Amino acid sequence: SGCSEVNNEDEFYEKADEYWKSIPATLNGMLGGYGRISQIDIHSSYNFLKRFLEGPKARLKTKRALDCGAGIGRVAKNLLLPIFKTVDLAELNSKFLEQARTYLGEGSKRVGNYFCCGLQDLQLEEKTYDVIWVQWVTGHLTDAHFVKFLNMCKAALRKGGLVIIKDNVAILDVELDAVDSSVTRNPEELRHIYSAANMKIVFEQKQTHFPPELYNVYMTALE
Ligand SMILES: C[S@@+](CC[C@H](N)C(=O)[O-])C[C@H]1O[C@@H](n2cnc3c(N)ncnc32)[C@H](O)[C@@H]1O
Repeated sequence: SGCSEVNNEDEFYEKADEYWKSIPATLNGMLGGYGRISQIDIHSSYNFLKRFLEGPKARLKTKRALDCGAGIGRVAKNLLLPIFKTVDLAELNSKFLEQARTYLGEGSKRVGNYFCCGLQDLQLEEKTYDVIWVQWVTGHLTDAHFVKFLNMCKAALRKGGLVIIKDNVAILDVELDAVDSSVTRNPEELRHIYSAANMKIVFEQKQTHFPPELYNVYMTALE
């Protein structure tokens, strides 16, 4: 199942690296030409997070967050830096991370680490993050690397912390995109991966108000 579509792991990662090297370090580049959905995306993400910051379900501290597959830091700038004192970025493509330093403006002063690294190779310190935000990048990991990554994230959370995955979800079969070299998983496959990583879904919500031609997008909070 899942990444059985991925016959050659090295090629799967190399092709994705090449693809992202060909993409401009802009908002539109990050969102496949859909830069205009950024505001509604961030707004929904903020509302999703808010329930864990205040009110009866509050559980998050606001010391430090990590933006995974950060690109130029769209999520870090608009969602995480306004909430968390320090934000780290993890991103494969050095050109995007370089642009992040400019794009984040004043906020860049509160960036702790720029990890230039594939999530499959990332190493995190234990008990460090209140939130690990992982948006539109999990499809670039094989099933085995996804499980390993989540395991590491779990250990890297501080007390009360959450891993939040925001990503495309396929309705039926797992789909391979040969252009950017990624997979889009279905709910069943995702459940399987979360349980293999020993992670529990705390809350899940479907993104609304995105253009209808896009995949379904879900936000999933895991502990
Ligand atoms: C669709 S963009 C999303 C960027 C950002 N998360 C956002 O929502 O604006 C995907 C990002 O993942 C990065 N990426 C691709 N494969 C990766 C990997 N194996 N590890 C880390 N980042 C990766 C790409 O370079 C790109 O910046």
